[in-house]
Amino acid sequence: MKMISHFLKTTDLSVPQLGETLELACQLKAGRAAGGHKPLAGQTWALLFHKSSTRTRVSFEVGIHELGGHPMILDQSRMQTGRGETVSDTAKVLSRYIHGIVIRTYEHAFLEEFSREGSIPVVNALTDALHPCQIVSDMLTLAEKWGRPGQLLESLKGRKLAFLGDCASNMAHSWILGGAMAGMEISLSGPQAYRPDPLVDTWLEEAGLPRTYRFTSDVREAARDADVVYTDVWVSMGDEDEREQRLQEMAPYQVNSSIMELARPEAWFLHCLPAHEGEEVTGEVYHSPRSIVFDQAENRLHAQKAILSFLSENKQA
Ligand code: CP
Ligand code: NVA
Repeated sequence: MKMISHFLKTTDLSVPQLGETLELACQLKAGRAAGGHKPLAGQTWALLFHKSSTRTRVSFEVGIHELGGHPMILDQSRMQTGRGETVSDTAKVLSRYIHGIVIRTYEHAFLEEFSREGSIPVVNALTDALHPCQIVSDMLTLAEKWGRPGQLLESLKGRKLAFLGDCASNMAHSWILGGAMAGMEISLSGPQAYRPDPLVDTWLEEAGLPRTYRFTSDVREAARDADVVYTDVWVSMGDEDEREQRLQEMAPYQVNSSIMELARPEAWFLHCLPAHEGEEVTGEVYHSPRSIVFDQAENRLHAQKAILSFLSENKQA
């Protein structure tokens, strides 16, 4: 039995819990207009963002409201943490007022410390290391194409996802963990200097999951026969000082029409957004019928509502 207290990485869910989360997300999406599912009634959830956000912040605010809760945006610049109050004290104090918190920040260790020191559920809304809410939404998007209710997670099994570009990014790491849970083959390709952090292997081991990923500098090999081609920005938030170098080094890993031709004819293109057309992806691919990036963005709302429902009920696997 595994209780979920926090959602800091995809592997905080068991594989059955991930499957159940996708099923609930699908049901919540279908029943959105009717409403009725209010597991956060009477609760206040805070949103703390140390980095910019459009999709995550808005979808969480709307999602918490739709689940019957009150979303409270915390303004970092007006909090005492900015004047040196510790993470530990902040976590302890906020735990006396609110029922849960969604945090986007730089260091993953910040979330780990907050979750250890406080006594409320913490949800990772992106760190330098991981972006797990995005992966659950991406899986829902693919499962809608390949599966049917009751078999959503199973529909991902055996599929090949090619991740091109910054393979040391939060998105690449998150797909390594999520892919292992779903039984997908994750084929990453980018410059050697941007290989995945070995920390992901530790996380896989801790979760008792096999390595289903491999890294290659051969972009064509990574893309060949892929069922889905994924990319992310080459300059993530916090990496702006390295912009010129990154653009130069990652240019061979751009997702363009010749890459998509190597993938399966029915392959989908995904991107967590925001995108930089002409950098990591060409406009031709981004606006093609194979691109389902806006379905992906919409699914943030439904997937996160399922994750929050799960946390609020503290369900067992
Ligand atoms: N994909 C994503 O997390 O988008 P935002 O940075 O706009 O939240
Ligand atoms: N890797 C990107 C993801 C944005 C959603 C970043 O961290 O900026």
